[in-house]
Amino acid sequence: MTFDLGFYDAELRLHNEHFRAASDIRPNEHVLDVGCGAGQTTRQAAQAAGRGGSALGVDVSEVMLEQARRLANEEQLDNVTFECADAQTFPFPASRFDICLSRFGTMFFADPVAAFVNVGRALQPGARLVMLVWAQRDRNEWATAIDEALSWETAPQSTNGPNAFSLADPTTVDRILTDAGFDVVQLAAVREPVYYGAGIEDAYAAVLHLWKVETRLARLDATTAGRTLGRLRATIEAHNSEAGVRFDSEAWIVSAINRPRSDR
Ligand SMILES: C[S@@+](CC[C@H](N)C(=O)[O-])C[C@H]1O[C@@H](n2cnc3c(N)ncnc32)[C@H](O)[C@@H]1O
Repeated sequence: MTFDLGFYDAELRLHNEHFRAASDIRPNEHVLDVGCGAGQTTRQAAQAAGRGGSALGVDVSEVMLEQARRLANEEQLDNVTFECADAQTFPFPASRFDICLSRFGTMFFADPVAAFVNVGRALQPGARLVMLVWAQRDRNEWATAIDEALSWETAPQSTNGPNAFSLADPTTVDRILTDAGFDVVQLAAVREPVYYGAGIEDAYAAVLHLWKVETRLARLDATTAGRTLGRLRATIEAHNSEAGVRFDSEAWIVSAINRPRSDR
């Protein structure tokens, strides 16, 4: 069983409905999707924007972008493009886009204010920013339960610097976006389970890949590594149901408006 590149679309199916409604892409809009991955949200935006609009997805992973381009071709979308680019520094055309979207692609910036300034330059004055980010780690069972299974004998993943929860704190998000030139910063909670797979083997393969488990276990002797994997499997089994393997989660939909340059 290997990791499926379409994992995030399945994992986030319930979140995506909230995100799509909040994004509210209108005909003829030009859309930037930051950290687009395999491009589901970019393709949905391109469909909503129609022939008079467009969508550009950027990601640092060429592997994910290959999948995004293939799926866009299959859907015969001719108003969507993908670029391998670091959104923190990429020289986007100035004031090009009406909206910037990101589904869990903005939490990993080394200097978030500088990165959002760069994104803001690409947006029209008054353009929208709509992004999904994880809420606090202790409200995300997918992180706490799996880390607990793995961390008793392996070092827990660091939560300093860029990480999945770096935009979890509303005050921090407000400060970063305000400093970067955005206004009307609002956060709305989304509480939906994340889906890790139809069954235990799918979910187990996903966790091994996403948590880089094999690298972490390489430091352990065979007995300890086996015990850790046993705990991981037990955690996954405990979350298996008729609806698949699911963990509770909480995220924020963050929205903001790009301030006109003269107001800064
Ligand atoms: C959790 S994945 C989400 C992917 C996609 N938005 C989705 O929901 O399926 C985060 C993505 O952000 C990308 N990413 C992280 N930092 C980035 C950056 N500075 N510029 C562009 N993409 C970035 C990663 O390569 C990864 O594909």
